[in-house]
Amino acid sequence: MTLELPDDLLTPEAVRDPDAAAAVLRAHDPVHWSPAHRAWLVTRFDDVVAAFRNPALSSDRVRPVMQRRTQPADATHRVLGLISEWMVVTDPPAHTRLRRLAGAAFKQQQIAAMEDRIQALVDELVDAFLADDGTDLVAGVAYPLPAIVIAEMLGAPPRDRDRFREWSDELALVAFGAGGDARPDRHERALRGLEEMAGYFRELVAHRRHDPGGDMLSAMISDGTEQDGLSDDELVGMCALLLFAGHETTTNAIANAVRLLTADPALRDRVRDDPALVNPAVEEALRLVGPIKVLVRWVVEDHELRGHTIRQGERVYLLLCGANRDPERFADPDTVDLARERATHIAFGRGIHACIGAQLARIETRIAVGTLLRRLPGLRVEGDPEYLPTIASRAQTSLPVTHDGVPAGTTR
Ligand code: HEM
Repeated sequence: MTLELPDDLLTPEAVRDPDAAAAVLRAHDPVHWSPAHRAWLVTRFDDVVAAFRNPALSSDRVRPVMQRRTQPADATHRVLGLISEWMVVTDPPAHTRLRRLAGAAFKQQQIAAMEDRIQALVDELVDAFLADDGTDLVAGVAYPLPAIVIAEMLGAPPRDRDRFREWSDELALVAFGAGGDARPDRHERALRGLEEMAGYFRELVAHRRHDPGGDMLSAMISDGTEQDGLSDDELVGMCALLLFAGHETTTNAIANAVRLLTADPALRDRVRDDPALVNPAVEEALRLVGPIKVLVRWVVEDHELRGHTIRQGERVYLLLCGANRDPERFADPDTVDLARERATHIAFGRGIHACIGAQLARIETRIAVGTLLRRLPGLRVEGDPEYLPTIASRAQTSLPVTHDGVPAGTTR
């Protein structure tokens, strides 16, 4: 009898518990062809890390879809055309140049200098959450925070914050919409949003070219030489990428960490009472319930992997959710261990595309999680998680909570 493997990542069971599906695949067929996705599913830590460094696997994965499946006049084609220029979906040498120029916006000291501001923003959101007697921590804190942070870092005025959230949603419709939540009008809606967003960023770029400030956009403008600096279109694309890559992921990092760490009241209270434990707790949350479950690569050259021939033109899904719980790499992999060796997980990827915003994401998540545990004592998440049915992201739509916190300035 052959064992039936859970190789469709969009079944309700796999959406509810992707880690269980990945564990079965990892144990029985760590490089597995999934007919449902028409892709290879790779689940072992070492194989996924090796894949990040394998030139036979390309990140240039939007352009082939665009060329194969759409006509130039389609809305879909135009949306994918914008996205296909993002550095996350390019290979060297184009990627090398974009990454170097983007690096100007992510200098370690500048990001670290944001800490106080991020703490103030989190406090503001938690104040409002408590004052409004809020119950959903996604709507109240995890969702708004990263969009506000990115808007501020790009130098956009605070009045435009809400528009950033809307554009980010539209982008997510396209980039994460390949799963069961796909809606027929999603590309038209996204295109409208993206065109408005591009117009907005174009104005912001023009403004910063004349009147540079201390923001990320000004840093990216001033870092390039005349010959190889980012063009206006590239700067617009970079702003859109930073908004997209940094918003939903960070929202999910905060929401997933809160659910994981409050599931065990003893662990929750330990982390609340010892600020030094917030960092390792967030690292364990990123490893165990990381916001990105799967990264996709295109095969550009035939090669062998664990006895399989992986052929040019096929797709490979790198299951971060499988790799980050691989027992060959992590002792007792399904347990939160606050003394685990730091940052060996791959929730932020590895190699040339490793997340450029990881430091910022960590700061936001640590401050949000630490503040929530402190200011909402007895924090409990109600009910089972509801995850969006997408292949790539582990996204909770809401986080209904109860707690014993009181608004600032009041006593209970
Ligand atoms: C917890 C939150 C986050 C997670 C889990 C995360 C995860 C990742 C991962 C796994 C990659 C690698 C993609 C690949 O190899 O194909 C990546 C790339 C990237 N991330 Fe993040 N990310 C987060 C937050 C952010 C933030 C806050 C920003 C910026 C504001 C950001 C910007 C980017 C960019 C621009 C890339 C592309 C880098 C490249 O292609 O060289 N991310 N991220």
